[in-house]
Amino acid sequence: MSLEQFLEWVSPGSPEETLARQVDFDRLPTHVAIIMDGNGRWAANRRLPRVEGHRAGIDAVRDAVEASARLGIGVLTLYAFSVENWKRPRSEVSTLMTLLKRYLRLELDTLLRNDIRFKVIGRPDELPPDVREELTRAEARTSGNAGMQFNIALNYGGRAEIVDAARRLIEAGVPAAEVDEKRLADFLYTAGQPDPDLLIRTSGEMRVSNFLLWQIAYAEIWVTDTLWPDFRCRHLLEGIVAYQKRDRRYGGIEPPRQAIGAK
Ligand code: IPE
Ligand code: IPE
Ligand code: MG
Repeated sequence: MSLEQFLEWVSPGSPEETLARQVDFDRLPTHVAIIMDGNGRWAANRRLPRVEGHRAGIDAVRDAVEASARLGIGVLTLYAFSVENWKRPRSEVSTLMTLLKRYLRLELDTLLRNDIRFKVIGRPDELPPDVREELTRAEARTSGNAGMQFNIALNYGGRAEIVDAARRLIEAGVPAAEVDEKRLADFLYTAGQPDPDLLIRTSGEMRVSNFLLWQIAYAEIWVTDTLWPDFRCRHLLEGIVAYQKRDRRYGGIEPPRQAIGAK
């Protein structure tokens, strides 16, 4: 996408416009991954039950997906539910599942309209059957789309993903001598996709929480204090502007030309 096309979507004179003008559209991150955190604190700040934070977080998801697609980001991965999140109260988990189902049902048309291809990464087999059904439907309906790849990490764990990849490598009968980084990556949930260039975490927490452990080896990390339900297009643009100021050295002594975004 170009700046001109993007500006058609944002309000003239808005902070989004100012930020968009600072973005170099030729060096966008190819893959942006987001740890959506802070829903519970957002609700607590308003003396509301935690689930209200999750409910409000849906608007932020909508905005992040549409803004990313309009910017021309190749892959967007959102961390929605970790393998560790089952430790939460049953009622919170079931509300999260219901919200997810509703989101998929309501947003499928928007995904189709914006040419977005949807995929679940994680262990969907352990999710409730009605949620699985909705996920499979969204994946099937959007599978022919050629625009942005939108991954949702659900019942996802970075270590679990590497274990699953190792099991599938063995099941596929790959000889040990042939196992290298490229071959192993072909068995990850994200096979065929570029690694994240930019990892965003909201709510100020400085940790990775078992997200995309393999893929973020050289991702640039940007943390914002904004709580997820307050996250909007302008925060994404802030993250991209910050990312474009980084030197990506990949272990060398100077950034390779074209390192940012271009893979
Ligand atoms: C992120 O918000 C949503 C999920 C992990 C599903 P949290 O629910 O973790 O909110 P905080 O971190 O408790 O504020
Ligand atoms: C990370 O948030 C998981 C998701 C965003 C789905 P958590 O709130 O579960 O992470 P911790 O517990 O703060 O590390
Ligand atoms: Mg949290």
